[in-house]
Amino acid sequence: MAVNTAARLALTRRPRRLRRTEAIRSLVRETHLRPDCFIYPLFVCDGSSVRRDIRSMPGVQQLSVDEAVQEAVAARDDGVPGVLLFGLPPSKDATGTLAADPEAPVQSAVREMKRAAPDLVVITDVCLCEYTSHGHCGILDGEEIANDVTVAHLVQVALSHAVAGADFVAPSDMMDGRVAAIRQALDERGFERVGIVSYAAKYCSAFYGPFREAADSAPQFGDRRSHQMDPANVDEALREVETDLAEGADIVMVKPALTYLDVITKVKQRFQQPTAAYHVSGEYAMLKAAAANGWIDERRAMMETLTAIRRAGADIIITYYAREAARLLAAR
Ligand code: PBG
Repeated sequence: MAVNTAARLALTRRPRRLRRTEAIRSLVRETHLRPDCFIYPLFVCDGSSVRRDIRSMPGVQQLSVDEAVQEAVAARDDGVPGVLLFGLPPSKDATGTLAADPEAPVQSAVREMKRAAPDLVVITDVCLCEYTSHGHCGILDGEEIANDVTVAHLVQVALSHAVAGADFVAPSDMMDGRVAAIRQALDERGFERVGIVSYAAKYCSAFYGPFREAADSAPQFGDRRSHQMDPANVDEALREVETDLAEGADIVMVKPALTYLDVITKVKQRFQQPTAAYHVSGEYAMLKAAAANGWIDERRAMMETLTAIRRAGADIIITYYAREAARLLAAR
């Protein structure tokens, strides 16, 4: 059928004008991804020259301290300003003793990273689940996590990270009162410069599955519903964030990211504080799996995802894609 190119609509608005060329599109673009909003999570284990693949997270590895330092420096060279460290201790016990050990993988990695790259922002995850034999985030009383006893342990963990030289500690345990307790302990010990990134609105999510393989932290019985948030709630997320800010959090986090974009938006709008979102392991694994099957274009899906998180209101995005996305942005 012949197209009648002479046909004309009398339109006052033609939004397509602003989409005609890449130069015009970039002129009117509202959200910009930059490498300096990324934080790169790393899993640090014992030994040396270890790079152990994680089956469910292609491209992510468990790294010994020396390799983790190299990876952090490489990320910094890609333009990523900071890392978030998780530890795989050589052994576990009921109270997660090694979490506060000055010679454990995380504490060693912090010291080495600050030596190799003093300007790198080093953030440490503070939780007991990777360190307890039962995989729970705290000290058990029967089958329940005892809140205040756990907080006392978390304070010791956070202090050991601060002593090692961490810029921020990031409690991810979701115990009540931990931000205040950590803040007070840091200040008493002269670490008032060490900040707190609180996992403020951390939901009880299916999307942490691959992480639990990576960090060997799956609970041996039960689940995390007694402390992580119900995915159905958003008012509660605002109360959590308000509480953590009042207790001294410098940066608040929403986690996961994609299924909680509305929460990110509300947190940013309500409190206007530095807000981070964690693009978690399952969200990463889904993209990797679909891409491996040839079902989606991974680079486009990655950028669209990270842009969405930023558009929702996140200032900081914690993502396993940090290096890849930073390199892609630099190549543009
Ligand atoms: C707890 C912690 C978890 C994640 C970050 N910190 C797992 C959990 O709560 O079970 C998940 C991160 C991810 O899935 O990428 N230490």
